[in-house]
Amino acid sequence: MMHNEQLIELKKILENQRTKTFVLPPRFSFKEHDVYDFNRLLGFFDWDIHDTPVTIDLTQCHTANYQALSLLTIYAWRLKAQGCKVTFLENEKTTGASSMWRSMGARGAFSVLFNKGQQFKGHMFKPLFAVREINDFKTVIESAKTYTKGFNVEYEGTLRYVLSELLYNTMEHGPCYMRNGFMQIPSLVQFTWYQQRNEIQFIIADLGVGIKKHIEQAFPGQESDEEAIMLALRSKVSGTFGKNDPYRNKNNAGMGLYISSNIIRRLNADMHIISNNGLVHISPRDMTQRKLTNPWPGTLVLVSLRLEKNPSFLLHKIMQEFRDAADKEQKQGDTREEEARSLFGINNFFGNYAEDKEAAIKFRDKRIFPALDEGKTIVIDFDGVKSSPHSFLSALLASPIKGLGMNAFKRIKFVNATPEIRGTIDFILDDNT
Ligand SMILES: Nc1ncnc2c1ncn2[C@@H]1O[C@H](COP(=O)(O)OP(=O)(O)OP(=O)(O)O)[C@@H](O)[C@H]1O
Ligand SMILES: [Mg+2]
Repeated sequence: MMHNEQLIELKKILENQRTKTFVLPPRFSFKEHDVYDFNRLLGFFDWDIHDTPVTIDLTQCHTANYQALSLLTIYAWRLKAQGCKVTFLENEKTTGASSMWRSMGARGAFSVLFNKGQQFKGHMFKPLFAVREINDFKTVIESAKTYTKGFNVEYEGTLRYVLSELLYNTMEHGPCYMRNGFMQIPSLVQFTWYQQRNEIQFIIADLGVGIKKHIEQAFPGQESDEEAIMLALRSKVSGTFGKNDPYRNKNNAGMGLYISSNIIRRLNADMHIISNNGLVHISPRDMTQRKLTNPWPGTLVLVSLRLEKNPSFLLHKIMQEFRDAADKEQKQGDTREEEARSLFGINNFFGNYAEDKEAAIKFRDKRIFPALDEGKTIVIDFDGVKSSPHSFLSALLASPIKGLGMNAFKRIKFVNATPEIRGTIDFILDDNT
């Protein structure tokens, strides 16, 4: 017979053996030598761990960035929801990740998770927030207000504006529920004022559906996460348009990201938007997009704004300019690509196994050729299609591709194809262009 104590001891040993340990690297930040490198940072997170004890070791990390570090809280929440027991290892040093972790009040992460209405009790100048509902929204805005008291009023208004748009977005489009809806994982906000550089940085992160999936409710068949983010940045584009009851009030105008990103471009600022594998960077110089190998399973926005002593802008003026520009753009005949696109869901027409060649030919003549003749770009969606032989795809696509020549690459887009189907399509493209 084993003693109770022995049993407990044994349980501990077994648990230690199962424990997964993640050691935070010596540097944990978005930048490496002053260049943004999100892939490296996002590679730290392993999202597929369930029902396992996890230790996150902060002790080896001597240089971190508050916004990057704050992501560990939302990560820990997600692991918790996946049945993991999460422990953080800290050291007693007064610099480095452990001490930063304490200043943000991040030790209270699980207590915040399980108590609606509770917030992190961190240092006033390193505020970290959980955002679940409108009261949290107000708390964040209030805190930002005290923070920006010393700033020029135009900056005060600007920060408040951009912050509220992003907060609304995360609450409206990015909430995350797990365990059959019984557990909400809050969105996360952290901001820091880097006094020496006179720069404000803030991050808003959620584990919601992500921009692509959300915007596809209204604009189906986006090619990639980065394309979807670019679309979300345009004026009067909203993922809510499709599902809104036309008889009810429209609650979204699709203007939030458009105006915020234009403010960023006008000021000495930049904004990174990451959603799943897509990254879009907005700066005064340009707007660039990239694909990331390591995803953020939701949406993450990082903003940095360098403050000038005597800013020469007036917020209400520049906002009016952006609104006017958006209206003008729409009045000028509105050549929005989305409206000149036709989406064909192969699964809807042909089922999981798209192999009826006769049907493909009919479909081509009745649907594909006419759409192309009207000058439309067509999007062919293979979502849900398990297999499709060369003969089917060739009957469907070879002549349209031949007719278009190299333009085929621009005018016909393929989304959600399995690697086999994609391979066959590439072969047909090669053969006919
Ligand atoms: N955190 C997020 N999670 C998922 N999708 C998002 C998120 N933020 C933005 N989006 C997508 O981007 C779209 C555009 O956002 P934007 O703020 O420009 O417009 P909106 O929120 O729909 O309308 P408005 O801001 O004018 O109320 C959203 O409709 C949504 O589809
Ligand atoms: Mg919005």
